[in-house]
Order: sequence, then C-alpha cells, then structure tokens
Amino acid sequence: MDRRLTVQGALDRATETFAAAGIVEPRREAVRLLADLLDWTPADVALGRGQVIEPDRRRWIDRAVARRAAGEPLPYVTGLAGFRQLVLRSDRRALIPRPETEGLVDRALARVPRGVAVDVGTGTGCLALSLRQEGAYDLVVGIDRSADALALADANRRRTGISVALVRADLLSACGAEAVDLVVSNPPYLTRAEYLALDPGVRDYEPAGALESGDDGLEASRRLVTEALAVVRPGGWLLMEIAAERPEASAALAAGAGWTGIHIDDDLFGRPRFLVARKEA
Ligand SMILES: C[S@@+](CC[C@H](N)C(=O)[O-])C[C@H]1O[C@@H](n2cnc3c(N)ncnc32)[C@H](O)[C@@H]1O
Repeated sequence: MDRRLTVQGALDRATETFAAAGIVEPRREAVRLLADLLDWTPADVALGRGQVIEPDRRRWIDRAVARRAAGEPLPYVTGLAGFRQLVLRSDRRALIPRPETEGLVDRALARVPRGVAVDVGTGTGCLALSLRQEGAYDLVVGIDRSADALALADANRRRTGISVALVRADLLSACGAEAVDLVVSNPPYLTRAEYLALDPGVRDYEPAGALESGDDGLEASRRLVTEALAVVRPGGWLLMEIAAERPEASAALAAGAGWTGIHIDDDLFGRPRFLVARKEA
C-alpha cells in the first residue's frame, strides 16, 4: 500500500475500479462517492485534490469503492440521496428516490400548495418532506406499510427537522372520509415480469415491495385510486407516479373509480409518468 494517498489519488483509483467494473460514468460516480464520504461538495473535491487522506478514512473509502464496484447502488454505499432541496439518508430499507419523482412535487405545488396532503408509500419520506418544506400545508402525512421504510423516513424527518406525520398503514385505510386536499403517491407499479427483468443493481438491492405490484403492475394503483377518491374532499387532487409503459391503463383505472379531468404528464425524460386527476367539486 502506498504511504500517502491524496484525494486526487483516491479519485483516480476509484475511477479505474469503477471503469473496470463496467460502471457507465466512473469519474462522476467517483467524485460523488468521495464528496459524500468526506462530507464535501463535488467542488470541494476538485479544489482539495492535493489533500492527504488519513489511513482510517482510506480503508473506509476502499470498502465503499469495493461495494459500489460489486454493484451496490451509490446512495446505499454512501448512505445519502439527493431529492430536490434535500439530502436524505438512504439505505436498503427503502427505494432510492429517483430524479423523475421530483416532478410530482412541482405538480402538487402548482395545484394545491396548502391544506392537508397525504403521501402514500412514503419510503425515505422524500415526497412528504419536500411538500412540507416547499409548500404551505397545514399538515403533511407520510404513510407506508413497511416498518423499515417508516423508520428511515423518521430518521430523515429528524435529520431535516421538517415536521411531517408518519403513519404505518395499508394505503389510505387510516384516513377519514373527505379529510384531505391532496393525495400524492409513487406506488409500486412494475409487473412481475418487469421486476424479474430489472437490472441486478436495482433488483438485488432495493426492496421488492417498493417496486412490484402484482402480475399487471397495477395492484396498488387500482386500490389507491378508489381509496383516494373517498378520502379527498370535493375539488381535491390525486397525483400519482405511473409506469411509463401503460399510461392508458392507469388513466382508465382513475376514470373507472370516478376521478375527473384526468390527464397524464411527462417526466423530465419526456416519458408519460404522472397521472393528474381531480375530484368533482
Ligand atoms: C416506489 S416506492 C416509493 C417511495 C418514495 N415515495 C419515493 O418516491 O421514493 C413505494 C412505497 O410504497 C410502499 N407500499 C407498497 N404497498 C403499500 C401499501 N399497500 N400501503 C402502504 N405503503 C405501501 C412501499 O413500502 C414503498 O415504500
């Protein structure tokens, strides 16, 4: 082992290891990994290239690089995931927040930025915490059936100091009739076949219960559109992330449940991703 390893050296070694492991953007991931582990920004990494890394930190970085090279997603390795204005704790208890999901928050804030909002399937708490931080809601509730996911959401609530209520429940079973202004959700929506065909970097690490939803991928959404209509007040909204492969099926479910003004919006990659629906006033 060479005696002194600088940030530049660590960056080069991580980049080489990642490239050899077939990681698509090895340099970018190496910078991100070092920044998160050292509690620096990517700009700090660029500016601090000459700094020597202490031996104990070096072992820790080596272990993290090996985990990433073996296929574990970067946010699970570093324990951190960015979502809108937040940096959240991330581990295998919940899905890693995806950039496309951030668009649900913009759509919510544009339609109903105050009142009571419920996030069904809160995972890390990314949607609930962002809504509370960026909106003017009186109350935001994050619901999940997974005790593990809720424990992580609770850690993120404490980490960010943002006040949301967290409830363990099956979909909206804990909510009263016409009690909320907005239901937002990124439910599991992959078919069994899609789940089995996932990249191992997703399938082997992220919780199956956050991804798969029955043979047709619509099990959770089918129940959610019906339950949401009952808990939303007249004139309230449902905003739901959907599988880009079957927007029509999701729209048909919402129409069948009695939602009006249904439309599908594209995500930032131009794929049909968000179902927007309103309850008749
Ligand atoms: C796709 S993940 C979304 C997590 C987070 N909202 C996000 O966007 O990153 C779906 C979440 O729904 C939860 N979930 C699945 N079925 C549920 C149910 N029947 N009731 C409540 N939560 C459920 C899972 O545990 C998981 O945390």
